[in-house]
Amino acid sequence: MAPRASTQNLPEGDPATAAAPPPPVHVAIIMDGNGRWATARGLPRVAGHRAGVEAVRRAVRTAAELGVQWLTLYAFSSENWRRPLSEIIDLTGLLRHFLRMEIADLHSKGVRLHFIGDRTKFDPGIQSDIAEAVRKTADNQGLNLVIALSYGGRAEIVEAARQVAADVAAGRFNPVDLTEDLFAARLSTASIPDPDLVIRTSGEKRLSNFLLWQSAYAELIFVDALWPDFGPANFAEALAEFARRDRRFGARPA
Ligand code: IPE
Ligand code: IPE
Ligand code: MG
Repeated sequence: MAPRASTQNLPEGDPATAAAPPPPVHVAIIMDGNGRWATARGLPRVAGHRAGVEAVRRAVRTAAELGVQWLTLYAFSSENWRRPLSEIIDLTGLLRHFLRMEIADLHSKGVRLHFIGDRTKFDPGIQSDIAEAVRKTADNQGLNLVIALSYGGRAEIVEAARQVAADVAAGRFNPVDLTEDLFAARLSTASIPDPDLVIRTSGEKRLSNFLLWQSAYAELIFVDALWPDFGPANFAEALAEFARRDRRFGARPA
């Protein structure tokens, strides 16, 4: 049997042998800038969304290569329904195409799919493609890919509060027993670890209603690259920046 690699007997503090800090378990990305990418090229916005799908493929591959276990992608917010109908038709068309064409490839790579957000807002065909993607990949052991669709952090929190209120009204639950963990268990992310790192592309510095509860202690990294230009080097640089951050969770600095 081949000897297993071990760092146990290596001299301490030798920079050449020092273990790299572990990558974030969960990276969440606000994929922004598709429209500006297209406009800068004199193309219709849908061309930017198409190029954005390419960037999704790259990001999924890179996340797995860099040892990330959970990747959440903000693909469509609850507020994006305010966009012109023509753009919504383009985006839902791309979503349908992604669900039909990409799932087999993701499945073959061991990716397990999850969806958060109000999928009832989409037409029944898309809803059943989502359910099928989840079912098909449910036993996969590779990267967990969470796609946020018609997702809004405030709506998610209100829905959890509504469930608690209903349980209290029905006498199933006493308000004094409510804890952060019990509340979080009613969010759509109940089985998903909180993000360690939230990346937003395109230079915008806001959360736009993304994972409001879950990002309480996430590190935030804003990159100027537009989403269609976001590649493996940008991803690796964000993880390098994350590794330099000192996460204290409110405790005293070391
Ligand atoms: C992100 O790109 C994709 C979605 C929000 C669906 P945008 O479409 O927001 O692109 P910009 O911000 O207008 O450049
Ligand atoms: C956030 O981007 C939502 C997604 C990336 C899906 P937006 O482009 O919708 O955000 P705002 O409107 O600039 O805040
Ligand atoms: Mg945008």
